[in-house]
Amino acid sequence: MIQSSFLFFGTAFVLLQLLPGVIGWGKEGHYAVCKIAEGLLTEDAAAAVKMLLPEIAKGELAAVCSWADEIRVHYSWSGELHFVNTPEFRCNYEYCRDCHNSSGDKDRCVIGGINNYTMQLQNYQCSASERKYNLTEALMFLSHFIGDAHQPLHAGFRGDLGGNTISVHWFGLQTNLHRVWDNMIIETAMKSFYNSDLAIMIESINKNITDTWSEDIISWENCTSINTVCPDPYASESIDLACKYAYKGATPGSTLSDEYFLSRLPIVEKRLAQTGGSEMIRSRFFFLGTTFLLLQLLPGILGWGKEGHYAICKIAEGLLTEDAAAAVKMLLPEIAQGEFAAVCSWADEVRFHYRWSGPLHYVDTPDFRCNYEYCRDCHDSGGHKDRCVTGGIYNYTMQLQTYEGSLSDWKYNLTEALMFLSHFIGDVHQPLHVGFLGDLGGNTIPIRWFRRKTNLHHIWDNMIIETAVSFFYNSDFALMIEAIRRNITDVWSADISSWENCAPANTVCPDPYASESIKLACKYAYKGATPGSTLSGFYFLSRLPIVEKRLAQAGVRLASTLNRIFKPQVLISEAYVTLTFL
Ligand SMILES: *[C@@H]1O[C@H](CO)[C@@H](O)[C@H](O)[C@H]1NC(C)=O
Ligand SMILES: *[C@@H]1O[C@H](CO)[C@@H](O)[C@H](O)[C@H]1NC(C)=O
Ligand SMILES: *[C@@H]1O[C@H](CO)[C@@H](O)[C@H](O)[C@H]1NC(C)=O
Ligand SMILES: *[C@@H]1O[C@H](CO)[C@@H](O)[C@H](O)[C@H]1NC(C)=O
Ligand SMILES: *[C@@H]1O[C@H](CO)[C@@H](O)[C@H](O)[C@H]1NC(C)=O
Ligand SMILES: *[C@@H]1O[C@H](CO)[C@@H](O)[C@H](O)[C@H]1NC(C)=O
Ligand SMILES: *[C@@H]1O[C@H](CO)[C@@H](O)[C@H](O)[C@H]1NC(C)=O
Ligand SMILES: *[C@@H]1O[C@H](CO)[C@@H](O)[C@H](O)[C@H]1NC(C)=O
Repeated sequence: MIQSSFLFFGTAFVLLQLLPGVIGWGKEGHYAVCKIAEGLLTEDAAAAVKMLLPEIAKGELAAVCSWADEIRVHYSWSGELHFVNTPEFRCNYEYCRDCHNSSGDKDRCVIGGINNYTMQLQNYQCSASERKYNLTEALMFLSHFIGDAHQPLHAGFRGDLGGNTISVHWFGLQTNLHRVWDNMIIETAMKSFYNSDLAIMIESINKNITDTWSEDIISWENCTSINTVCPDPYASESIDLACKYAYKGATPGSTLSDEYFLSRLPIVEKRLAQTGGSEMIRSRFFFLGTTFLLLQLLPGILGWGKEGHYAICKIAEGLLTEDAAAAVKMLLPEIAQGEFAAVCSWADEVRFHYRWSGPLHYVDTPDFRCNYEYCRDCHDSGGHKDRCVTGGIYNYTMQLQTYEGSLSDWKYNLTEALMFLSHFIGDVHQPLHVGFLGDLGGNTIPIRWFRRKTNLHHIWDNMIIETAVSFFYNSDFALMIEAIRRNITDVWSADISSWENCAPANTVCPDPYASESIKLACKYAYKGATPGSTLSGFYFLSRLPIVEKRLAQAGVRLASTLNRIFKPQVLISEAYVTLTFL
């Protein structure tokens, strides 16, 4: 493509200087895509994007979504990253076959670029001095290339350079087919239907996203948990659409007008919508990465949410036997200042530093099965067995059982084991920590919580608890914990022995907890929470009792596990009368 693309890009660049709005999807297309994406970012992603934007963007992602076109001549190596060429008339795309530049260097195409800049952005958690890449550029490239990958002719045939060499008339204007798809369809639509106002066009695409296409978004975002980004299907869709719509009826020298315009415009609008949707933060990387950063700034953001973990450990603390309480006290690090609950979010705080521990916070289950099986589900995305939340619970319980003996004999760091175990017993009780693989436990389901943009996972980690604290507990979290404890000694007292139930030979029984979680996830968390929906009063009020009970169960079970570890055979239900809360 390079021989003549030079000329093409050269002239396009000159035009761009004169007439902003000429390359890529066209400045309008990229602006629309990023504007749509901006409205769909989670709070965490929006904060990260804001941090990374250059000053000239003045806080607006869409303002720099054509940057990659503007520097294309200057960064001449980047030209080949805007498109991928596919073989003539095959109408399909394959990464290995197609993603290379004209001298055959692998990965040098739009899909390789998307993978590259996604990988770079995964370094977002590193401190600025540790970052190997310029993440401002990575963000601007990534947002642009995801747009390009959706323009059907950016995955067009090699022989005509994605329609660049097919000259056509667009109504009365001489142009080429590539440019019709980059610009003309959008520009004509703006003039014909949107009063020449791009904002109105974006608004009506957004309306379709929340309305006509709301059911489809889950499939647009589809990406397995292993991958942060899934650009290959975008290219496959593009070349398929190029064959079906772009090339069809557009022979060299033909005139394209009303019929072509009106039948292709819906395709263009949908591609713009899909791009914006696909930039939504689907990735654990960005999500957790940015959350981690926020955690540093604003304590209280991960896991069940710092509040949830605090409540669970606070409840457990009050139910420990003397022996267990003494052991816990021995093992607590100094920073805890003797308070167990103070370190129950430690496992979230070290999650970035101890990268290997990330998969131990959750377990993914198959989509829509609504059940959990250790052997089938407990592994990380690389298939390594036992690397999930229940595996972590077994692991750290086993370690804590070596507590006997003198300190110097310990094979494991039992301080860490205690902090991990108490956190993971909390996590396994959060229904969406045992959610579906396809949506990463609700992380990729965008939702409005009352008026705030967030995602379903975050609602269950934090928002339900936070909303309850501010609605019902006078913004005092201690009052909420007190109310849960009152229910434990009162409404739920008869249930406690079943909550504690664990086969006599076992010290810990996390598998039933995971099974309960995914059942609750299906019945309550996912129910009524389709992507893009707004959840408020009814969802909140009907789900809050579930959350409160899960916090109670987690607290009771954490205590009875620790009680069994540090002195076998003591059940809270048996010793119950003698126990008082702190
Ligand atoms: C293809 O990519 C390689 C590696 O970046 C580069 O050295 C080479 O010049 C590129 N080929 C062309 C024709 O630009
Ligand atoms: C990856 O990004 C770096 C930094 O911008 C760039 O030099 C390199 O050419 C990119 N490679 C691909 C395949 O996108
Ligand atoms: C990162 O890239 C942007 C845009 O090219 C540039 O303005 C900025 O100075 C770069 N930052 C660093 C640290 O090099
Ligand atoms: C909205 O969706 C309808 C039905 O699919 C379609 O005909 C229309 O072109 C879409 N409009 C926009 C602006 O996306
Ligand atoms: C997601 O993609 C997988 C594999 O590509 C496919 O089997 C599955 O049906 C897709 N799910 C949705 C909701 O589109
Ligand atoms: C078990 O604990 C050790 C020490 O923290 C850790 O290195 C290992 O990854 C853990 N394995 C699992 C499955 O939790
Ligand atoms: C155990 O882990 C804690 C927390 O990471 C650390 O502060 C302590 O130094 C470790 N102890 C040993 C003996 O390594
Ligand atoms: C206490 O139990 C009642 C009855 O099950 C329930 O409605 C309420 O939400 C619970 N409150 C708390 C704080 O757990």
